[in-house]
Amino acid sequence: MSVNVRINRAVKTYGNFRAVDEVSVDIAQGEFFTLLGPSGCGKTTLLRMIAGFNSVDGGEIYFGDRLINNVPAHTRDIGMVFQNYAIFPHMTIFDNVAYGLRNRKIPKDEIRERVEKTLDIVQISHLKDRMPAAMSGGQQQRVALARAIVIKPQILLMDEPLSNLDAKLRVQMRTMIKKLQKELGITTIYVTHDQEEALAVSDRIAIMKDGKIIQLGTPEEIYNRPVHQFVANFIGTSVFLPAEVVSQDENGEASIQVSGYTFRVKLGRKAPKKLKLSVRPKQFLFNDATDEGIKGVIRVATFLGDYWYYEVELTSGETVEVHEYTKEHEGARPVGTAVKLLLDLNRITIFNEDGTEAIR
Ligand SMILES: Nc1ncnc2c1ncn2[C@@H]1O[C@H](COP(=O)(O)OP(=O)(O)OP(=O)(O)O)[C@@H](O)[C@H]1O
Ligand SMILES: [Mg+2]
Repeated sequence: MSVNVRINRAVKTYGNFRAVDEVSVDIAQGEFFTLLGPSGCGKTTLLRMIAGFNSVDGGEIYFGDRLINNVPAHTRDIGMVFQNYAIFPHMTIFDNVAYGLRNRKIPKDEIRERVEKTLDIVQISHLKDRMPAAMSGGQQQRVALARAIVIKPQILLMDEPLSNLDAKLRVQMRTMIKKLQKELGITTIYVTHDQEEALAVSDRIAIMKDGKIIQLGTPEEIYNRPVHQFVANFIGTSVFLPAEVVSQDENGEASIQVSGYTFRVKLGRKAPKKLKLSVRPKQFLFNDATDEGIKGVIRVATFLGDYWYYEVELTSGETVEVHEYTKEHEGARPVGTAVKLLLDLNRITIFNEDGTEAIR
């Protein structure tokens, strides 16, 4: 049976250094949960604490109602998939997948049945008598996955399982993993530093930085409503522009100035004087009708099929990336053209000056 996982103020220290720093999160039964963040932020360390390969130096980790802080790894009932496959090179694929079941003293007939069924699920039945060396990276990773799920674990843990595969195979495999996870209904904790992969597979994502969770949310929440500049920068492309509040009335309606352009938005609370706007390439809108907007000159114009990719040098000296869908504008805006850019005011993110807090 799949279980929920509750992590309460978990800490892992190496000497004076906190690799995991008071992380708290509740992961629901059957959820596909992803730890996402740059190299060294503590993803693997936290996953290994959940697996039982790292000590828990503070806080608690529960599987369901069971406190597992001091439960040995091999009795935690987890399936684990690593980046480097970690399959046994001297055993056939069948034996690799059967290994965990044989250890559990499961009857022979049942082992055969379960291994065959699992190989079928990950679509490598036809390779069951092969040795791992005679298989591609993607096939080896399927073996590792089969080995992890054949034991019907309570929790499936995966640490960058696709990072050794080429781009196309990564996309295929992540689709398979997501489908499989939903079919089995198994609580899954997945580690990656690939933002697109995280968006594609996860029910919820935790963005980690320096051993802490900076934001927790669905892929859409993380992408559309980043709570910190770090998140806006890490997920997708954003440019950050300094802005100033000219005035704000008692209803929250504010006049904000950015690069000589003033616009009005309603803010949920009293804004500080100085702000930072986070704008994605498709949140800039060319204004062909009036003189209003952030002024700049097109420096690069590249046709990318669905949209034109522009680099616009603003009067302030900053260069921003702008995407305009080809169906919205016929042909290129030539390099050297002076343009005015409006902002998609419902979509841009407004931060405080140092980008540590979203104002709306
Ligand atoms: N055994 C150890 N001894 C000392 N420091 C360690 C040890 N293991 C990890 N660290 C440190 O803890 C921090 C987090 O490491 P961790 O491996 O969890 O990062 P990560 O987020 O998985 O990064 P990556 O994406 O590169 O795999 C790093 O600064 C790392 O150097
Ligand atoms: Mg890691």
